[in-house]
Amino acid sequence: MNEPILLHGGDYNPEQWLDHPEVLEQDVQLMQKAHVNSVSVGIFSWAKLEPEENVYDLDWLGEIIDRLWAHGVGVILATPSGARPNWMAQRYPEVLRVNAKRERSLFGGRENHCLTSPVYRDKVRKMDQILAKRFGKHPAVRYWHISNEFNGECHCPLCQASFRQWLQAKYGSLEALNEAWYTTFWSHTYTDWSQVESPSPLGESGLQGLLLDWRRFVSWQTIDFYRFERDAIREILPEALCTTNLMDHFDGFDHWAMAKEMDIISWDSYPEWHNPRETEEQTALRTAFVHDIYYSMKDKPFLLMESTPSNTNWQAVSRPKEPGMHMLSSLLALAEGADSVMYFQWRRSRGAMEKIHGGVVGPDCQADNRVFLETAAVGKALQDLTFIAGEKRPKQAAIILDYNNKWVLDASQGPRNCGLGYWEEMHRHYDGLRHNGYSVDFLPPKGDLSAYPLVIVPMLYLMDDATIQNLRDYVQNGGHLVVSAWSGIADEQDQLRQGDTPYGLTDLLGLRVTETVALWDGEQVSCTSCTEDLSDTEGAILCDVPALEGAETLLQYSSAFFAGTPAITKNRFGKGTAWFAATRFPAPFYKTLYQTICRDSGMAAIWQHPIPEGVLVSYRGPYVFLQNWNRTAVSLETGKGTLELHGWGTAVLEQDGAVRYVSEPFPFPLTAGKPAAEK
Ligand code: GLA
Ligand code: ZN
Repeated sequence: MNEPILLHGGDYNPEQWLDHPEVLEQDVQLMQKAHVNSVSVGIFSWAKLEPEENVYDLDWLGEIIDRLWAHGVGVILATPSGARPNWMAQRYPEVLRVNAKRERSLFGGRENHCLTSPVYRDKVRKMDQILAKRFGKHPAVRYWHISNEFNGECHCPLCQASFRQWLQAKYGSLEALNEAWYTTFWSHTYTDWSQVESPSPLGESGLQGLLLDWRRFVSWQTIDFYRFERDAIREILPEALCTTNLMDHFDGFDHWAMAKEMDIISWDSYPEWHNPRETEEQTALRTAFVHDIYYSMKDKPFLLMESTPSNTNWQAVSRPKEPGMHMLSSLLALAEGADSVMYFQWRRSRGAMEKIHGGVVGPDCQADNRVFLETAAVGKALQDLTFIAGEKRPKQAAIILDYNNKWVLDASQGPRNCGLGYWEEMHRHYDGLRHNGYSVDFLPPKGDLSAYPLVIVPMLYLMDDATIQNLRDYVQNGGHLVVSAWSGIADEQDQLRQGDTPYGLTDLLGLRVTETVALWDGEQVSCTSCTEDLSDTEGAILCDVPALEGAETLLQYSSAFFAGTPAITKNRFGKGTAWFAATRFPAPFYKTLYQTICRDSGMAAIWQHPIPEGVLVSYRGPYVFLQNWNRTAVSLETGKGTLELHGWGTAVLEQDGAVRYVSEPFPFPLTAGKPAAEK
């Protein structure tokens, strides 16, 4: 039943309203008005599905699913493992997590179960299979939503034992582990497996090898839990399509590894629109970056599983989206590769934790307020844009993203304990490319680079031998590579490479880094351009100081003790070219830098027309999205004339300039030109 359509809907938690049948009846009527075709049910319903141990009640959910389906609404059916019932925690305390200080939690919260507990796994498996047997063949069920936003770790005795087993399988012997973790330093040598404990503020908190392997273990364990649930469902329903909702820049597990187990990627997006630190366009780029990561995870369209139709309740200031932003931000998701726009949650809760969080239906229960009307307008737009469903994105530039690298940069003492900004480094390159109208994908370090004319390697401190070889082969065969500061320093165990750095890439880059100078926040080093293409600028955060071994200097440091040494270089290697960016430049500089690099790498622009300031271009299949993040209108040359695009407007065109869709501005106040209120 997964025909190519764009899904519109969201988390539906009817268990809150079972004693209000009129609300449930109104829900399906309102869903039709909002053009909802899909909702996620059952996410946190365990206490209603199994009110007492081994006493199951699925009838209420059956009625809900039937009613939804009768009104044309499909279902993403969730497993309830993200929150357990109270009776379970009371009877089986092992399901409760233990923190790094070895304190066991009390019952409460959610997404906080032990990932090892055999009791929990048994209970989950039984529940998942009961759901699969009862609802798996229901025509309404499109996808399975496994648990919810997997995150966190558990330090209980069961998890310690599992960690040791995982290490034994990885290293085979304690000698190998001691060597990998470099335990000779400070006499931390392990002489028995039972001495191995997860990191703790009360014990080991600075043994880098342990910290890195613990994060790898937690990653494995989390993915294993997902796989465990997926396989429980697949035993009953071999064809089930499974997903779990991922989070923003979350790095609690290796998403590349998780993605391999998922049939379709989904994620929950809650940008802080209208914050005083950024322009709307900057917030959009931060969000597009994450959409693009999740598109890249499987190189195919993903689901936007959650977003808010108005405000959250957990941000420092949970500000509602202004009129028009809901359409613009929803179509941004589509432009970047989403095949859905879904919300948390359909109807706002009456009580408890999330009652202030926006929902499509508010406490007024009306269909004529701004949030509802804007949501319905998005639903209608998705119907008009059905032709986008399933369309893929072009391959132009790719950024290497590595979770292991993130973990070691976080764990490492020095060179800047106030933060190296791995994500920030990636964002700057990303924004520079997007400001030049290029599409950007992400790849794991050992991914297939061959389809991409340009590959960026931002701050890849940790590089194993296979990664080095992958980058070498890529450039050798004609690829264009950009490497940035603090790359190629350590091996896969976070031990420093012995030899020149970036290790294994010095001939490719035509230089070696002789030292790295960390700067204080706000401190800057001047840089002077050596070519007409670049302007003078400044470096910040970290300055690698290279000695040239064949590369050409495009920009050089002009203050500090290393004035006169290169800050940006270019080198021919094999059939390709490699650039080195030795420090972090101000964000606008990357636009100019990538103008030069993209030109030199011969990467053709898909959209050949000028892109006004504040307009973002994205591509899906043969279609071009132009989104105007300015509050005022812009004139766009399309090749077939000029298109006036209203403030916060979206246009979808064919590559030859034929217009397929233009959004409508949302009038406010509603009385002035009230939109067709579907009362
Ligand atoms: C997350 C959760 C939801 C809800 C929203 C609120 O994404 O998955 O259950 O708590 O946040 O923004
Ligand atoms: Zn545990």
